[in-house]
Amino acid sequence: MTRPRFWLVVPAAGTGRRLGAELPKQYREIGGRCMLAHALQAFADWGKLAGTVLAIDDGDRWFAGIGGQLPLPVRTVAGGVERMHSVTNAVQALQGDAGEDDWVLVHDAARPCLCTDDLHRLIESTATDGVGGLLATRLTDALKKAHDDNGQARVLSTIDRDGLWQAMTPQVFPYGLLRPALEAAHKAGKALADEAAAMELAGHQPLLVEGRRDNIKVTRPADLALAEAILAGHGRG
Ligand code: CTP
Ligand code: MG
Repeated sequence: MTRPRFWLVVPAAGTGRRLGAELPKQYREIGGRCMLAHALQAFADWGKLAGTVLAIDDGDRWFAGIGGQLPLPVRTVAGGVERMHSVTNAVQALQGDAGEDDWVLVHDAARPCLCTDDLHRLIESTATDGVGGLLATRLTDALKKAHDDNGQARVLSTIDRDGLWQAMTPQVFPYGLLRPALEAAHKAGKALADEAAAMELAGHQPLLVEGRRDNIKVTRPADLALAEAILAGHGRG
């Protein structure tokens, strides 16, 4: 029997609305390199991918200009309206290449600070698990449910933090489970926050693998400076 291989899927078709510039955030520079190149670096260092599929927007005007900066060879597919559509398109593009027992890693282009150690831990922790899992962190702050009070947020209640985790990427699942799980969720018209949610809908219980808190998703303007500081701290700035 051949050993299962690892494929990488990267959703990079968003517009970065919350960051608020014309240039989508995955193409913004951090320390002289675009965010997408940083997001791929840990996988390039690991060096064991069979291939990478990047979902980019149909109207993307920037990818062609940065392709040469990327640390890995990638192929592109068209993204979709929501992140889940972009991921599904990219996973479907693996048909014919990926075997049922191969693993699909999914990592956001907007997470440039992933460390190779975390990637290794995720892969080692899930290697003997039939379902797969995701990097995540335990919540540490008190959680408040808010309601709108004339445009202001007011506390409605405090949510018990016990057992709550914050999901990150990468997430890794067997191709033979992930693809049907995504397709079933689409058919059922379910909105998905991430790949783990598709697996949950299909009746699986993904493994939570505790990761570093500094694997942030760049979302708002202040996150850019934070990502730059984190990468500099990792010697990659
Ligand atoms: N993404 C995607 N296709 C979409 C929407 C998002 O591939 N239709 C990707 C983004 O490019 C990003 C990742 O999914 O790498 C996480 O999404 P998010 O942080 O929400 O990025 P954006 O959707 O670009 O940002 P915003 O929600 O602020 O517009
Ligand atoms: Mg978004």
